[in-house]
Amino acid sequence: MLFDTHVHLNAEQFNEDLEEVMSRAKEAGVENMVVVGFDRPTITRAMELVEQYEFLYASVGWHPVDAIDMTDEDLIWIEELASHPKVVALGEMGLDYHWDKSPKEVQKEVFKKQIHLAKKVKLPIIIHNREATQDIVDILREEGAEEVGGIMHCFSGSSEIAQECVEMNFYISLGGPVTFKNAVKPKEVAKDIPIEKLLIETDCPYLAPHPNRGKRNEPAYVKLVAEQIADLKEMTIEEVGKITTDNAKKLFNIN
Ligand code: NI
Repeated sequence: MLFDTHVHLNAEQFNEDLEEVMSRAKEAGVENMVVVGFDRPTITRAMELVEQYEFLYASVGWHPVDAIDMTDEDLIWIEELASHPKVVALGEMGLDYHWDKSPKEVQKEVFKKQIHLAKKVKLPIIIHNREATQDIVDILREEGAEEVGGIMHCFSGSSEIAQECVEMNFYISLGGPVTFKNAVKPKEVAKDIPIEKLLIETDCPYLAPHPNRGKRNEPAYVKLVAEQIADLKEMTIEEVGKITTDNAKKLFNIN
């Protein structure tokens, strides 16, 4: 029993063989997934997929790299979608200082607008962070994001920052990087953060876990993430699967 909390099955990389990808996920024990949309085309496709497949849920938001493109109409559209029964979160949203398409100040504005919206519609948020940890933590605190909570997606920071996020009502989601041979911080986080506050994800088609690193990622590989966490925590994969699935269902309010 596994819950992949972050997939991009709405990406064009899955156009050719989506059915096969889904059946491999089922075989690997993946029961539910959240398809994350972050701009017009990916949100549209995520909504199509959740209408089509019972076991899929959606998260809708605006990516920080493209913050400069977000219009008022886009935000209104996201608010409308938020009332759809299969939309379980807003995001991914956050800050990305690796790419400079959108200035930092614009990214911060768009991030804050989405936090406000999440509080209005009472949905948790999925956070994308790249090279912007301190600003993210500051904004979450200033904007009172604790009220809705959410997920630090594909978390790559230290145990100390992870702990700070947990105290702000956020779950820490670990993906492929926790399995990489040279990964130090994600392995420490997996050990230090209580399993009741951890989630698992693939972020497919990106960041495939070892030994598939560099290849296209897919939801079936979330099992490799769960195995690594089980190993680090000296638990069984069944326990890790069960508890992280319960965590996800609680956060997303899925029965
Ligand atoms: Ni993503």
